[in-house]
Amino acid sequence: MFEILEKRSLNPTVTLMRINAPKVARKAEPGQFIILRTDADGERIPLTIADFDRQSGSVTIIFQIVGATTEKLNHLNEGDCLQDFVGPLGRATETEGLKKVAVVGGGVGCAIAYPVAKKLHELGVEVHSIVGFRSKDLVILEDEFRASSSKFVLMSDDGTAGEKGLVTDALKKLIDSGEKYDRVITIGPLIMMKFVCKLTKEYGVPTVASMNPIMIDGTGMCGGCRLTVGGQTKFACVDGPEFDGHLIDFDEAMARGAMYKPFERHAYEEACN
Ligand code: FES
Repeated sequence: MFEILEKRSLNPTVTLMRINAPKVARKAEPGQFIILRTDADGERIPLTIADFDRQSGSVTIIFQIVGATTEKLNHLNEGDCLQDFVGPLGRATETEGLKKVAVVGGGVGCAIAYPVAKKLHELGVEVHSIVGFRSKDLVILEDEFRASSSKFVLMSDDGTAGEKGLVTDALKKLIDSGEKYDRVITIGPLIMMKFVCKLTKEYGVPTVASMNPIMIDGTGMCGGCRLTVGGQTKFACVDGPEFDGHLIDFDEAMARGAMYKPFERHAYEEACN
């Protein structure tokens, strides 16, 4: 069983949990994910590894309360145990040869973007982090990003935190001001990543997007996480979760994500009643 060592609310809908999972912590790298079940009858949900500590054997996850399982998960407390915690799964973020990178995160996607920024910073890469939230009360990990970035830009939709505007506005401004990035790494809502990739394609900046589709087995067997990348079918769980953002069919990914919304809403209502 995987004990919850720490539980912290980052904002009204986002929670951090540190889980005792020494075998996962031993091999985890930024960009990889785990699949957990809260109990024996529970649904399997993928969550990206937000941090890990090999010495203490703990793995940190950050999740948004959006559905039945994350609601159930959020009801657990320190000292409670998870039924399953499988990982690390997927491929780690590629960092080889990078000198200067813009990390662009949106909303709870910043929980995934942060360990990537941190790892790049530790490797001596110049990191510019651009993060966006709807409003001030939803901002997470600001201090952590600042500590891992030589440039940090905070954007909000309503102007209550940082500058008012979109992450694409900030990225465009930086590129137009002469910043030259080896790579842009973007993690957040599909619509945001779509427009980040559209922008960087125009400027010819290589871009990686981290995809988080529905996953079931996490081993490439069920096909639930399939995406079209460069005209080919790929599985986010084994081929990803990071892909060349200029080749991803974002419109298809958004349509597939929307297909499951009524089922998720139904399960959420059942879990809450
Ligand atoms: Fe089943 Fe990826 S989750 S193939």
